[in-house]
Amino acid sequence: MRFTPIAAAALTASSAAYASPLQARAATVDELVGYAAGTTGGGSSDGTTVSDCDALTAAAKAGGVIKIKGTLKDCGIVKIPADTSVLGVGSDAVIEGGGFQVRKVSNVIIRNIKFHLAPEGKDLVDIDASTQVWVDHCDFSSAGLVGSKDTYDGALDAKHGSDLLTFSWNKFHDHWKVSLVGHSDNNESEDSGKLHVTYHHNHWENCSSRLPSIRFGTGHIYSSCYIDNPTSGVHSRMGAQVLVEASSFTNSSRAIITNLDSDEDGFATSKDNVFDSESDTSITQEASLTIPYTYSVDAADGVCAIVEKSAGVGVVTF
Ligand SMILES: *[C@@H]1O[C@H](CO)[C@@H](O)[C@H](O)[C@H]1NC(C)=O
Ligand SMILES: *[C@@H]1O[C@H](CO)[C@@H](O)[C@H](O)[C@H]1NC(C)=O
Ligand SMILES: *[C@@H]1O[C@H](CO)[C@@H](O)[C@H](O)[C@H]1NC(C)=O
Repeated sequence: MRFTPIAAAALTASSAAYASPLQARAATVDELVGYAAGTTGGGSSDGTTVSDCDALTAAAKAGGVIKIKGTLKDCGIVKIPADTSVLGVGSDAVIEGGGFQVRKVSNVIIRNIKFHLAPEGKDLVDIDASTQVWVDHCDFSSAGLVGSKDTYDGALDAKHGSDLLTFSWNKFHDHWKVSLVGHSDNNESEDSGKLHVTYHHNHWENCSSRLPSIRFGTGHIYSSCYIDNPTSGVHSRMGAQVLVEASSFTNSSRAIITNLDSDEDGFATSKDNVFDSESDTSITQEASLTIPYTYSVDAADGVCAIVEKSAGVGVVTF
């Protein structure tokens, strides 16, 4: 394993404040845990606050700490540079009709932003050939499960050998193809040994598929809530190693599946999850992965109440 575990608590944004009330839980709501540990983004400066597209585009050229205030509509796809944090102010920072691209960079943090409706065929957040990225307390959605599943691309995708990622406390809803990790069966040479990703305390509702889909990589999914997802949930493929732990699945078809739509199956282990009668699994090969960091699990039977309240925007504010 290439990464060095680092005390993550010391590295989170110092300006973050807790919304209240917060329910009792094991996991801390404002802490970077998992494969992206050590990510510091733009550090702890006050940074630049932007409230229109021109200011965002200019700030994104400079990097550092960028704070988004209010709704920014139709800004297109904004490239986020290395060593940058993009943080939503308060509880109503919105990127609508646009998205972020994190490409060929390292050390990026994105928190407390509502992303809605990417331009057609684009991702809301696209992580490409990049490492050390933490996406936390965001909200991702499109128009819902209407129209063509291919009109909108991913909500939060990672590909081309990206690595060391943590996606925590996000809400994903009303979107077709949500989170793709490893975009092609043909990309083994660049993805093998990469694509380590932690997903924890996320809420997935009214989503069709890729919750997430992981090829070749290593996924750790824990303490997450899945509700009303009609097509497929956690999808391990092309030899990916995935541990799904302490998560709750309600009315979520193929909640965990390893044999779907790829030349080779993936591996998955289901541990301490709860499934209702509408949520089935299809696991053809057990995973064998060792999680190299410490983390706090909230049990599956109470996790939906926790993430409904404490995932998404307006919880950790800037
Ligand atoms: C990854 O897949 C893309 C097709 O999506 C292809 O263009 C590219 O050459 C592949 N790269 C590697 C290193 O396999
Ligand atoms: C899911 O969709 C239903 C209607 O189809 C809607 O009532 C509900 O609010 C949606 N859930 C979320 C989290 O958006
Ligand atoms: C299950 O989810 C589907 C959408 O994914 C929804 O149409 C249906 O009403 C849900 N069933 C129940 C019992 O909530």
